[in-house]
Amino acid sequence: FSLMLTAGFQSAVIAKQLTVGFAQVGAESAWRTAETDSIKNEAAKRNVNLKFSDAQGKQENQIKAVRGFIAQGVDAIIIAPVVETGWEPVLREAKRSKIPVVLVDRGIKVSDDSLYATLIASDFVSEGRMAAEWLAKKVNGKANIVELQGTPGAAPAIDRKKGFEEGIKEHPEMKIIASQSGDFRRSGGKEVMEALLKKYGNEVTAVYAHNDDMALGAIQALEEAGKKPGTDVVVVSVDGVKGAFEAMVNSKLNCTVECNPLLGPLAFDAVEKAKQGEKLPKKTIVPDKTYDQSGAKDVIASRQY
Ligand code: AHR
Repeated sequence: FSLMLTAGFQSAVIAKQLTVGFAQVGAESAWRTAETDSIKNEAAKRNVNLKFSDAQGKQENQIKAVRGFIAQGVDAIIIAPVVETGWEPVLREAKRSKIPVVLVDRGIKVSDDSLYATLIASDFVSEGRMAAEWLAKKVNGKANIVELQGTPGAAPAIDRKKGFEEGIKEHPEMKIIASQSGDFRRSGGKEVMEALLKKYGNEVTAVYAHNDDMALGAIQALEEAGKKPGTDVVVVSVDGVKGAFEAMVNSKLNCTVECNPLLGPLAFDAVEKAKQGEKLPKKTIVPDKTYDQSGAKDVIASRQY
């Protein structure tokens, strides 16, 4: 009887519903929305009580949300950090409260990596390199490039810039003639591109955008300036959202490097393992792939985001 009781107690413990806080960046891009949906859907599937917070692109809002999750005594916290720095104090508070933190999609810089359980993300440096390599082939190593950067201080903006610069290094005639932030937003990409077209006009032969939304904004600006994006100006970006595939099918975007936002299953696997006291790898890299106009039509129907 006592054995049965123990077993019953154990299964009750295992079946306890987890409450997890998710501090999301915001809703700046189609990619971000897909990531939010993936986390929410996976939480529902696993009967996790998810507390969702949208930081509207501001780190101070995210930190406030994390403090709120700690005060509520959640079982774990998932963070997609807006920027890389400034996380130590709040993560120390989470650690003191014994709440494991799982980072998704963007890395952070901390002196003590025991402050988070694991990071699940793409290799943004390699994405930048892949974009550069594809472009170099397309333009035979010669281009005047406008770079549309993501949010200043964000891991994907820093690393995609680094990777791209590394990738074009061996092509001395590939030059970044202007590089500005469009904050990962379509409106940002459009505004920056409009201004740069006024300044550089026909000098611009290629655009490298740190995400698809900014590339789609830039495409609009190019068209409004009477140019044919994808033909007069080669456009390369990162993410692989549906809109990018549509633009490739319509010959307006040349290439996108996929960055998978469907991180819900991996994130909750990590949460569950951390709760069971399992030691997790410090980083799990989600693989990426390059798509261009040649294959876009065949895969567009099967794209999940
Ligand atoms: O952190 C991933 C990046 O953030 C995606 O490329 C971008 O679309 C998003 O806003």
